[in-house]
Amino acid sequence: MRCIIAPMFAQVISRYGDHDVLEYTEIPTPTPGPGEIRIRVAYVALNAIEWKIRSGLLADILPQNFPVILGNEISGIVDHVGDGDHDFRVGDRVAGFVRGGGDAEYVLTTPNRVAIVPDELPLRNAVTIPQGVETARRALAELAVSAGETVLVNGAAGAVGSAAVQLLAGSGTKVVGTARPENHAYLRRLGATPIEYGDAMLDQLATVAPDGVDRALDCGGRGFVRRILPLVPANRILTVVDLDAPALGVPITMGPGPLELFADSFRDVLPRAAANEFATEIAAEFPLRELAEAQKMNEHGHFRGKIIVRVGAPDQ
Ligand SMILES: NC(=O)c1ccc[n+]([C@@H]2O[C@H](COP(=O)([O-])OP(=O)(O)OC[C@H]3O[C@@H](n4cnc5c(N)ncnc54)[C@H](OP(=O)(O)O)[C@@H]3O)[C@@H](O)[C@H]2O)c1
Repeated sequence: MRCIIAPMFAQVISRYGDHDVLEYTEIPTPTPGPGEIRIRVAYVALNAIEWKIRSGLLADILPQNFPVILGNEISGIVDHVGDGDHDFRVGDRVAGFVRGGGDAEYVLTTPNRVAIVPDELPLRNAVTIPQGVETARRALAELAVSAGETVLVNGAAGAVGSAAVQLLAGSGTKVVGTARPENHAYLRRLGATPIEYGDAMLDQLATVAPDGVDRALDCGGRGFVRRILPLVPANRILTVVDLDAPALGVPITMGPGPLELFADSFRDVLPRAAANEFATEIAAEFPLRELAEAQKMNEHGHFRGKIIVRVGAPDQ
């Protein structure tokens, strides 16, 4: 008997351009291929890469075959398990990575890209974990931070920066973080000594870390690498964002592409989040229909934590 699958709503883009190229429309629900599982999306989290792809900023590095649906970081309910060697069941609550397609009611992925979300952790919060933790963990490993060192994290209130601060907390590392003043109390709660970014940064750094910093992690860009270079050797700085840094001798971690992002990179943090021992703030929540507004906020750059988009029922 032929099974007719109802169409789904998605945000589709058919060309590069401003926010108005996002089209909220009905399209066929994807059918899992061999080795794939399908997820009914509850939330999709925004990452800067999406507005950069949509606008054409990355057209040379990541050319798109239109039409495309963006969105790489989701939480939701497993809806089809296919046949493959994995333990997922229909109805499992999961969070993790997809290879695009997340800005939609249903999305396909492979079992090694998603992890089970503990019952105590709402899917709304679980969606904020994967990308920030994966990036921060990879960056800290490449920066080779040791216990006893003082580390400066630029853009420490963002998803990547706040994950880095929390991963370092309790490791014997002293962390100084930059953020706008409104976020300083938040950084203290996470375990970092806050200072401002921009022109005020170096004077404030001299006050809170009179012996200097051993290493610097740049999660905020905007001239940070040039500012800190006179104080920290280039090989003790790492950026996740500044494409001009390598010309100054400072390495950038670009990380794996969406095809190589796996659940092993964040799985262990989900139980910590369920136990309130790790959190990424939710900066704002939008319905899928208003993805353009969410991307505008993401592009603007001043928010604490993660912007998320609600796709399924908010109580999932
Ligand atoms: N290389 C990789 O593998 C990789 C992976 C993921 C993400 N990224 C990149 O990493 C960066 C951080 O990502 P994210 O998800 O944490 O969110 P994001 O949107 O880039 O960061 C938001 C944070 O940027 C801070 N910020 C604004 N102006 C700043 C300035 N002049 N100096 C320093 N910080 C400033 C804001 O802090 P205030 O609110 O305190 O102003 C806000 O908390 C993004 O550029 C993203 O594209 C790279």
